[in-house]
Amino acid sequence: MPRDLASQQTQGLVPSPASEEPFVPSTFRAEPATTPALTVPSHVADAVRELVTELPEPLKTAVLAALNTPDGVKITMGNAKGGVMKTTLSVYIALILALTGEPVLLVDADDTNKTCLKWQAAAGEDWPPLVTVVGYTGSAMAKQVTDLMARGFKHLIIDVGPTDKGVLKTAWMLTKRGIVPTQQHVGDVVQLTTTFDLLEEMGERIDLSVMLAKSFPKRSSYTNARDYIQGLIQGESADHPDGLPTVELLEGTIPLLEGIADTWGSIPDDFGYFGSVLAEVLGVPAPVIAEREAAWQHEALGAR
Ligand SMILES: Nc1ncnc2c1ncn2[C@@H]1O[C@H](COP(=O)(O)OP(=O)(O)O)[C@@H](O)[C@H]1O
Ligand SMILES: [Mg+2]
Repeated sequence: MPRDLASQQTQGLVPSPASEEPFVPSTFRAEPATTPALTVPSHVADAVRELVTELPEPLKTAVLAALNTPDGVKITMGNAKGGVMKTTLSVYIALILALTGEPVLLVDADDTNKTCLKWQAAAGEDWPPLVTVVGYTGSAMAKQVTDLMARGFKHLIIDVGPTDKGVLKTAWMLTKRGIVPTQQHVGDVVQLTTTFDLLEEMGERIDLSVMLAKSFPKRSSYTNARDYIQGLIQGESADHPDGLPTVELLEGTIPLLEGIADTWGSIPDDFGYFGSVLAEVLGVPAPVIAEREAAWQHEALGAR
């Protein structure tokens, strides 16, 4: 806060924003949002540096944010509901993370579907060697993943199936951060409470980013879904009367795109919306992502 504003506040000239903030238990208070640096760190090899510099936006911002996340990017894709893009997000984001030149562990914890493993098999030779896919579920998963990470993986993505709540909790413990993709229909958003009930049972700080997936941003149901989710976060619902202080609703969304289903089993060449979502989850404010993309487009037009 600018110093003069602060002094005006102490004099009672400007209302203190603190007085309007909802009560949040201090153990769960969101840490001050740290925006990652968006430059290539000095330790990065020249070949990777060159590659990253040439990336289109918003993909470049996502990769830079990942390179500047000190302990690596660790995210669980989980929601107690199926067909909401968990696997698609897991694979796309793991592939984006490989662009850092650092090794990525992609855990397929959906024992019933094993879709990540099948995707990798279908991609064959095209699958990047930097992304290792393993299938784990059950109680041994925590140890297996911790042991593997200790062997030098930098980034960790866990794709959790819709049915096993124990696996979702284990995955959250391992990553401490999750994306909860949901569709915008009323029937989908009301089911979020099942996922949030699990979060409240954890007694551990887990940061969750809710993302509207396969969305139709122009429909009124999109705005209604956002309002409903914000209400849940702010404690306006009887289901979560204390609110959900470690949950945020992403500005970024991934619309329903017919073409995505066709990229299954291959390495996509367009990461568009996925880059924005990853960058935002890593702490880059949505307006910054949009500005950088606009500047890049402007430059690309000028270069023609
Ligand atoms: N943005 C999208 N638009 C349209 N179809 C999508 C989109 N994202 C994923 N799909 C398709 O929806 C289906 C379910 O996606 P998937 O990622 O497997 O969900 P989950 O893992 O949550 O069950 C798949 O056929 C996938 O190709
Ligand atoms: Mg799946």
